[in-house]
Amino acid sequence: MKIIGTGSVLPKKIVTNEMLSQFLDTSDEWITTRTGVKSRHVISDEKLEDMAIDAAQKALADAGISEADLDYIICSNVVNEYITPQLSCIIQGGIGASCPCIDINCACAGFIFALDLAESHYKAGKVKNVLIVCAEEPSRMPDWADRRTCVLFGDGAGAAVLGPGDNIKSIKLSSSSATDRLWQMRRLQPTPFVTKEEEDVPLQMKGQEVFKFAVKAAEKDVRRTLEEADCTPDDVDHYLLHQANIRIIDSIRHSMEQPKEKFPTNIEDHGNSSSSSCPILLDECRKAGRFQSGDLISMSAFGAGFVSGAVLFEW
Ligand code: ACO
Repeated sequence: MKIIGTGSVLPKKIVTNEMLSQFLDTSDEWITTRTGVKSRHVISDEKLEDMAIDAAQKALADAGISEADLDYIICSNVVNEYITPQLSCIIQGGIGASCPCIDINCACAGFIFALDLAESHYKAGKVKNVLIVCAEEPSRMPDWADRRTCVLFGDGAGAAVLGPGDNIKSIKLSSSSATDRLWQMRRLQPTPFVTKEEEDVPLQMKGQEVFKFAVKAAEKDVRRTLEEADCTPDDVDHYLLHQANIRIIDSIRHSMEQPKEKFPTNIEDHGNSSSSSCPILLDECRKAGRFQSGDLISMSAFGAGFVSGAVLFEW
């Protein structure tokens, strides 16, 4: 397939590190040097589904196709207010489309997994045009008294429309169960029959283990896509990495022996927006005129599970 349109939406509320240090035992200096984040957009009165619909409409307008041309809608989401229906059905109604919809939860790697799903359906002859929307509100996951997690996240929605083409050169995915490193649980409605203990647990993270996994997995995934496409790291014009931590991005850049200019970032004022991070970065780079037709782009993301994936595609 080929990415023919992109769009993104951020909540209006901006929370700076200074604002966090007013109610947490933290500082701008700690957060900036350990993560690269200076500020983040977080949901206040917005509804995530409205942001997702807005991002989808922007991507459709950019692609120059209508909702009636869509054959499939894939929404990547970890958490939102609805347990059911799926967010993709809400997006479908919001944009007035009538094609099948599916939600996936592959944590921060959701955009890459969605691209793989779209490409596989395209190669099977089932679809021509696919809308992918990543809509995430990770600011609703941690305990906001826990300085180790809440400072990391920002919310947002990023969308991409894919049409016919052979621009996707390679996609590699991996999953390796490590469910005690990054997890969250919620209590369901009680019944007269449930006797087991259930609890609400905000996001728990073993930060250093996630860090090590991320660096290793991203480099491996990226190299596997390059090998399959018979390319070298130098052939890539832009590396768009999941915006989780600037030190993770720098470590991957060093091991790939590539210059900083090839690694656009927005973590400074977005934080980690989970699976929305990659499509938001893609949209911002496109709008900034960063891509030339024919440029080779490597995108990589990793997240809870663990799951990770990389895609190599031509712009
Ligand atoms: N402000 C000040 N001090 C802090 C803060 C903070 N916000 N957070 C932690 N500290 C303290 C800790 O309490 C600890 O203090 P101690 O030594 O007295 O116990 C000290 O700083 C060092 O803590 P570490 O956890 O060792 O710090 P580290 O350098 O590993 O950085 C971080 C932590 C930023 C979380 C890093 O490990 C990281 O980025 N990991 C990857 C995170 C990630 O990518 N997560 C993806 C989640 S996405 C998803 O799937 C929802």
